[in-house]
Amino acid sequence: MNSTKARLTERVRAAVVTYGAAAKRDPYRLHYHLTPLVGLLNDPNGFVQYRGEYHLFYQWNPFITEHGSKFWGHWTSMDLVNWRAKPVALAPDEWYDKNGCYSGSAVEHEGKLILFYTGNVRDEQGGRETYQCMAISEDGIRFRKHGPVIHLPQGYTPHFRDPKVWRKDGSWYMVVGAQSRELQGQAVLFRSSNLRDWTYLGPIAGSGLQCLGEFGYMWECPDLFRLNGRGVLIVCPQGLEPEGDRYHNLYQSGYFLGDLEEEVAKFDHGPFDELDRGFDFYAPQTTLDNRGRRLLFGWMGLPDGEEHHPTVAHHWIHAMTLPRELRVSKGRLIQRPVEELCQLRRNEVVHSRTEICGKGVALEGVDGEALEIEVDLLENRSETFAIDFRGAACLIYDRRDGRLMLERTAWKDGKKERRFCRIDRLARLRIFLDASSIEIFVNEGEEVFTSRFYPDVDNRSIAFSAPEGITVDLKKWELASVP
Ligand code: FRU
Repeated sequence: MNSTKARLTERVRAAVVTYGAAAKRDPYRLHYHLTPLVGLLNDPNGFVQYRGEYHLFYQWNPFITEHGSKFWGHWTSMDLVNWRAKPVALAPDEWYDKNGCYSGSAVEHEGKLILFYTGNVRDEQGGRETYQCMAISEDGIRFRKHGPVIHLPQGYTPHFRDPKVWRKDGSWYMVVGAQSRELQGQAVLFRSSNLRDWTYLGPIAGSGLQCLGEFGYMWECPDLFRLNGRGVLIVCPQGLEPEGDRYHNLYQSGYFLGDLEEEVAKFDHGPFDELDRGFDFYAPQTTLDNRGRRLLFGWMGLPDGEEHHPTVAHHWIHAMTLPRELRVSKGRLIQRPVEELCQLRRNEVVHSRTEICGKGVALEGVDGEALEIEVDLLENRSETFAIDFRGAACLIYDRRDGRLMLERTAWKDGKKERRFCRIDRLARLRIFLDASSIEIFVNEGEEVFTSRFYPDVDNRSIAFSAPEGITVDLKKWELASVP
């Protein structure tokens, strides 16, 4: 361990000792989501299965609840539900990553776990340098840095980061998020035969390319894979203007479906669609597991108004989403919570063929702060159907125009804010509530709304409204806490 790493490791330990208990005591602390022990968490990184175990790394500033020189925190799990914290995997302790070990990915090769990440370097004048770096582990826990393997290619600004690596037909490929000299956001492809020497192949998608037109000044966190016979590019464009119901968050996170030919750096794709309709979703990353599932974690947050989150007073901020399984069906990316999450269920409450008629109706045993609710809408005679969550968030479906809305009370100023999507017919909802988060999967994962919310801690009520009446099958479970 170099002396900078030793010093930083000691500072991380001290931060956890000093603030960890306060973070744990926060009534808004999540029960079954991954959260930082202290400090700020952002992107999921290096999501991979290695020697049968899932590894998930994350962008972490352990010292304060603001962005800064990021570390890679590290968790492992056998089942995607119970996770164990491991020692910090990467610290910003070398000249090429001194201002942050930024986002990246992991692959297994010849029995080793290999990380690719962006070394972020700033100078006194606010200038930026970027290096795509490699680190290797023999045991999946301790990583040896190998330094930069890719320097900035010509034609790009130093906003060039977040390498995602995969293997195809004996070659390695890497997609990187980029900004061209013309300030266009792009995803750029590289190829390697040995993971150390990389050849630049060019942009495969981006603002101003193909028929896309202007589409953001920077693309972050790209991920490129095949699923159910289609090529999928997930990417986070910055700089899109709101358009109708879309693009209302600070930055966007979405996907293109297309035909992918890595060998010739080609990805003919269709239009962009948002992955999630909620307020807090960004920088997702996927991996393929040994059961052939394409799994995704997202950051349940955005770098927007962070100083206002009440958790900041308890020295922590942000969380990961629940893990989701992806599928492509009828030209859409479908997301479902992984089946392992059913392990968390306790104390089932069932309401079969139940009539709800009126406003603010409570159902026996349906309340709480860490729970899952599954609702099948059997007969909907009502123009609107709404579920209020603890007085601080509300899901409202308007059958007349097929619009589904999530409304929450902003904690900054107490005002209502709203996000929307359209669906043909609302048939089923699966809702996961945690102390200060909500994830709503609509119609088997056709749409998802992911958000934080901060209700009064004593308010545990769930209230249903259907003025003209609705018949539902409903199940509710308390969800267990995982340490
Ligand atoms: C996305 C992002 C990445 C970067 C990382 C830094 O949230 O800005 O592009 O690598 O966060 O923490």
